[in-house]
Formats: sequence, C-alpha cells, structure tokens
Amino acid sequence: MGNTTSVNYLIKVDELQIDRIQQLHHIFKYWCNDTNYFSPISKDLAHGIEVLDIGRSGPGTWIFDMSSDYPKSKFTGIEIEPSMLPTIHPFNTRLIYHNVLDGIPFYPNSFDYIHMRCMILCFTDLQYEQIIKESVELLKPNGYLELCEGELSLHNMGPISKRIFNSLGKLLRNRSMNPFISNRLHEFLAKYELRQIKKEEVMMSLSPVNGKIGKLTGQNFYYILYGLKDILAKHMKLSNSEIIQLIDGFLEETKTYQMYCKYTRVYGRKIVEG
Ligand SMILES: C[S@@+](CC[C@H](N)C(=O)[O-])C[C@H]1O[C@@H](n2cnc3c(N)ncnc32)[C@H](O)[C@@H]1O
Repeated sequence: MGNTTSVNYLIKVDELQIDRIQQLHHIFKYWCNDTNYFSPISKDLAHGIEVLDIGRSGPGTWIFDMSSDYPKSKFTGIEIEPSMLPTIHPFNTRLIYHNVLDGIPFYPNSFDYIHMRCMILCFTDLQYEQIIKESVELLKPNGYLELCEGELSLHNMGPISKRIFNSLGKLLRNRSMNPFISNRLHEFLAKYELRQIKKEEVMMSLSPVNGKIGKLTGQNFYYILYGLKDILAKHMKLSNSEIIQLIDGFLEETKTYQMYCKYTRVYGRKIVEG
C-alpha cells in the first residue's frame, strides 16, 4: 500500500519533538497513576495478546515500555515518519512505516487490544472517525479499543495563553480538525457498536506550583506550541520574533496561573453476539 493520502500532522518532526514526545509519555504515565493503559486487560497482557499502537508512540516509548512489562504479548506499531523508527527494538515488537490514512494494513480480527493516543493534531474529524471504524474491524471478538486525547485548550488560562489557544482552535477548525475531539471519543465508540464503554478524565497541571511534574508538563506544552509556531505565526499574522515572544509569554503564565489540561481516556469492547 503506498502513501498516497496527504499527512496532516501539524508539528514538524525533529529531534526536539522526538524528545518531547518521549518525555510526554512519562508525564502521562505519572498523571495516570503510573499506568500505561486504562482497559481491563492486565491478565490478558500477562498471558500474551496481540497489541496494535496507532501513531506508534512517536519514537516507540509506549510500545517499548509495554513490551518490557509484558514479554508474552506481541506489540505492533504504525508510524508514518521514518526518522521516528529505531533500528534496534525489543524481540516482541514490530514497527511498521505506513500512513494510516491509506488504510490500516491488517486483516479483520487481528488484534486483542488497539491503542491510540495523542493523534488530535494528525487527523481531521472525519479521518479520526474513519480510523476508529477501521480499528473496530481489526479487533478480535472481545477485544478492546482504547483512545486517549486531550482538549486543545487549557483551564485557568492567562490572557496570552487565551490568545494563543483561541487562535490554535480556529486554525484547527479551518482544517476540519476538532480541538475538543476528546469529548466525543465515547460517542464514536458507541457509534461503532463497542460495548462496556468506560471513560476517565485526567487533569494534568502545567504549573510549577504543582511541583516538578507541573513544571515539566508546562515545558512540554511550551514545546508543543514551539513546534506549531510557524503555522501559528502565519494564522495570527505575526513575525517569527512576535510568535516566539508570545509563546515565551505562555511559559511565563504557567508560573502564575494554575493552568491545567483535561485528557480523556476511553475504552470499549467488541462483543460479537451469537
Ligand atoms: C503526537 S505524536 C505521538 C503520539 C503517541 N501516540 C504517544 O502517545 O506518545 C503523533 C505521531 O503520529 C504520527 N503520525 C501522524 N500522522 C500519521 C499517519 N497518518 N499515519 C501514521 N502515523 C502518523 C506522527 O509522525 C507522530 O509520531
């Protein structure tokens, strides 16, 4: 299958962004009470199941973490960016370079558990839904699909942060992307007939007032905005130095405003009747 559909990922992948994605994995794990997943599959993972990660933890951090915790399970990751693919990886992992917008290249009923996290900046609303539909087909009976996304806006924002995130929201909507898709994930799972749907909201502080982890989370968001600076500058009609000044202003505001971001984790199960 060739890579024919254009890729939407709004952040240019470079070494800084690879480091940021890796760090975000550990930040998430902290805010999610030291867990890498939400579905009730601990025993299955320990026993040995087939797992697919879509948008494969960027540089593979989620998969590598999971594969060492659960050596009897097999982990497959799909990633579009060749620079993200490490050459050496654990024996129970398989990494594939592929644009999932061209279709996810597996047979129906192939996986016991499918995981997708932080792909809000990669798909339009319709594409996101299409990926969910295809994932459900790839699940084996009784398999779980788990999704995790954050709102692309913050709570308790200062004036500079409001200006940036309001513009980012408009920019996304202009591209048919939804900054609040996290609030619709459970709806999508129900639409594609998954059952036993469960949802959990995770509040991540971005403020050093909440200790070192708050500071790291705030800095990670700063680098997300930094990765978006060129398209933000174009959208906001700002020069390079003006957008950098604004993004620096966001980082300053994390010190005085107790901002936080709401993430939603949901899962659903494929129950096949009869
Ligand atoms: C925010 S990052 C990684 C998020 C990762 N799932 C995690 O939770 O750490 C999004 C990743 O998806 C990849 N990506 C974007 N569009 C894609 C596509 N159409 N097909 C496959 N991978 C894609 C990007 O290259 C990037 O590595």
